[in-house]
Amino acid sequence: MQQGADVHQRIARIAAHLNPPTNHFRVDGSSSLWRVDCRAKGGSPGFKVAIFGAAGGIGQPLALLMKMNPLVSVLHLYDVVNTPGVTADISHMDTGAVVRGFLGQQQLEDALTGMDLVIIPAGVPRKPGMTRDDLFNINAGIVKTLCEGIAKCCPKAIVNLISNPVNSTVPIAAEVFKKAGTYDPRRLLGVTMLDVVRANTFVAEVLGLDPREVNVPVVGGHAGVTILPLLSQVKPPCSFTQEETEYLTSRIQNGGTEVVEAKAGAGSATLSMAYAAVKFADASLRGLRGDAGVIECAFVSSQVTELPFFASRVRLGRNGVEEIYPLGPLNEYERVGLEKAKKELAGSIDKGVAFIRK
Ligand SMILES: NC(=O)c1ccc[n+]([C@@H]2O[C@H](COP(=O)([O-])OP(=O)(O)OC[C@H]3O[C@@H](n4cnc5c(N)ncnc54)[C@H](O)[C@@H]3O)[C@@H](O)[C@H]2O)c1
Repeated sequence: MQQGADVHQRIARIAAHLNPPTNHFRVDGSSSLWRVDCRAKGGSPGFKVAIFGAAGGIGQPLALLMKMNPLVSVLHLYDVVNTPGVTADISHMDTGAVVRGFLGQQQLEDALTGMDLVIIPAGVPRKPGMTRDDLFNINAGIVKTLCEGIAKCCPKAIVNLISNPVNSTVPIAAEVFKKAGTYDPRRLLGVTMLDVVRANTFVAEVLGLDPREVNVPVVGGHAGVTILPLLSQVKPPCSFTQEETEYLTSRIQNGGTEVVEAKAGAGSATLSMAYAAVKFADASLRGLRGDAGVIECAFVSSQVTELPFFASRVRLGRNGVEEIYPLGPLNEYERVGLEKAKKELAGSIDKGVAFIRK
């Protein structure tokens, strides 16, 4: 009899990994155990993180890497397709985070409730010949719906927004939160980390350094000429010829297109993006934990320029963005680049705002 109860408890504990906590059903008629009461063992103290678009090209490796992050205690995986499979798979990893899967609109609110950090790589990626702006019509609606859910279920969560075009989806999210009365600009961050990751890699190649030793601030936005690497501020300090500057700037601005073309119709950057997203999410969590000196580039509500949103170096803390750093001294090449970036960025921001206000 006792043995039977133990077996039921074990089954329920395993099932708790795979099912959202709303499944209020008895594991078996004779047992007093409810699935909602089950908590998989090993859940470490830490933060609750949700990934929206978790079954996608970015979402899957991102889920894998977040399951390995010791700062995560609970990992919610949400998508409109395939989350049961991805969740079952990821949940077998013997790391501390407890994983739960959520499928479709009817489970959206359960997926969001109680989350500290929501990472959004939901939406369609580019194909060759497309710009990020070509994704606007589909992704704008997806981001709007997800942000309405966040406003309702976890308005205090930090949001890491990956879905493109980031230059427009961040203003969309801000407008949704404003409408709902929950907007806190410190908690909404557009993820431009991949531009920094690429810049560090390409600059390290030119300098013959280990990329882990290189830090390139990339400001502006996340599309074409709005991606502005500040090569005059690279750490460790170094200098580039005009030819190197032009080569590096162009390669960093077109890094996404390089991958889209190489994948030849099979999507855009997913693996390097998942790596960059995790690097950024980890920084967000270290900030939430209260670590000092967590500084990364992100596309945020900003007064660094006359534009309402701009990517620059920010310090992350318990409330999200605690401080936004000015651009610092720019050389002539960067000043010209900044003007081009701002012009394009202004249109993309307006387009996002108009989508909600229309
Ligand atoms: N910020 C960046 O640096 C960066 C870099 C690369 C890609 N991206 C963007 O990230 C997004 C995702 O790219 P991907 O390659 O993973 O695409 P993908 O098509 O492989 O995956 C997207 C996932 O989103 C899901 N999805 C669609 N509608 C949804 C909804 N309403 N709610 C939840 N999930 C939904 C899909 O089912 C799919 O699993 C794209 O918009 C892409 O442009 C951003």
